[in-house]
Amino acid sequence: MKRGYFIVLEGPDRSGKSTQAKLLKEWLEGRGFSVILTREPGGTKISEQVRKILLDPKNNIERLTELFLYESSRAQHTLEIILPALKAGKVVISDRFTLSTVAYQGYGRGLPIKTVNTLNTIATCGLKSDLIFVFDIPDRIFAERERLALKLSGPDRIESASAAFRKRVNRAYKILAGKQGMIRINGALSRANIQKEIITRVRRLIGV
Ligand SMILES: Nc1ncnc2c1ncn2[C@@H]1O[C@H](COP(=O)(O)OP(=O)(O)O)[C@@H](O)[C@H]1O
Ligand SMILES: [Mg+2]
Repeated sequence: MKRGYFIVLEGPDRSGKSTQAKLLKEWLEGRGFSVILTREPGGTKISEQVRKILLDPKNNIERLTELFLYESSRAQHTLEIILPALKAGKVVISDRFTLSTVAYQGYGRGLPIKTVNTLNTIATCGLKSDLIFVFDIPDRIFAERERLALKLSGPDRIESASAAFRKRVNRAYKILAGKQGMIRINGALSRANIQKEIITRVRRLIGV
């Protein structure tokens, strides 16, 4: 079976994931690759509907319900978008994937990591990514970017969660970035320097 490549960008809000996902897509397309850029939660019609429930500040969601909503959205996303694209030999870039659930629902909400990992495996049919970039930004820069962004629009449900929760999530990403198989990205670097680092790894993977 011909197989494409699956590249994941992870990290806290405003660490630069979406910026780099877009740059990487453009770079790959410039080299003739067929690229699907997708995101979680979301990526399909059903998953985008689940995303709305998850991010609506009016919703009071139990952490276990939240976990299942993320995983149900992921199952649909994996089956409808990611697996068929990989089978067709495309490069799939996902802005967030399973590690986000480890960080937010595991470390952040305090659900057992083992449970999160088990559900992640079920929801993804055991799919493993080829590269996982984990963005890590200093708290000071995180606060600065947050101030700027909240001036433009109000916070969503996750963004308005307690400061303690968000601190646990940011700390989780620092820990997770150092784990085996993860590529730590210093989100404080310039866009161009981060892109260079990402492209070096991607070149090595795809052999161009
Ligand atoms: N390397 C960088 N240096 C400075 N600002 C950046 C950098 N990367 C992204 N930004 C800016 O920071 C904000 C968050 O970036 P974004 O890519 O949307 O992050 P995320 O997708 O992780 O939430 C945006 O305003 C973006 O323009
Ligand atoms: Mg983003």
